[in-house]
Amino acid sequence: MIEPAFKPRVTIFVCCNGREDMQSCGAQGGEEIAAGFRHAITRHGLTRDVWLVRTRCIGYCPKEGSAVAVHPPGRCWVEVTARDVPCIMNEAVLPVFGAGSGTQEDQSR
Ligand code: FES
Repeated sequence: MIEPAFKPRVTIFVCCNGREDMQSCGAQGGEEIAAGFRHAITRHGLTRDVWLVRTRCIGYCPKEGSAVAVHPPGRCWVEVTARDVPCIMNEAVLPVFGAGSGTQEDQSR
């Protein structure tokens, strides 16, 4: 086996789990949230450094919105909507690259 030339510095997990017997993040905007992160990652030129993982249930199962985890720094959110993507980028993703804290990501969306 060989190691690839580049590796992620941050991985964003967005629950897109879908199930018919009970509420699930997939039916509560998970795909829209993942699309929002994909757009933000691309816009910041971080496609090689940030991996976006559309995952199944990660155990939080919020009543509204989706569950999102970002590692590092190892933070999790529930009841996330697409509108929260800029905030999560600023608070957890961009600081890894020396940016964020309300300066890089447009929070008006
Ligand atoms: S269905 Fe998303 S955390 Fe369980």
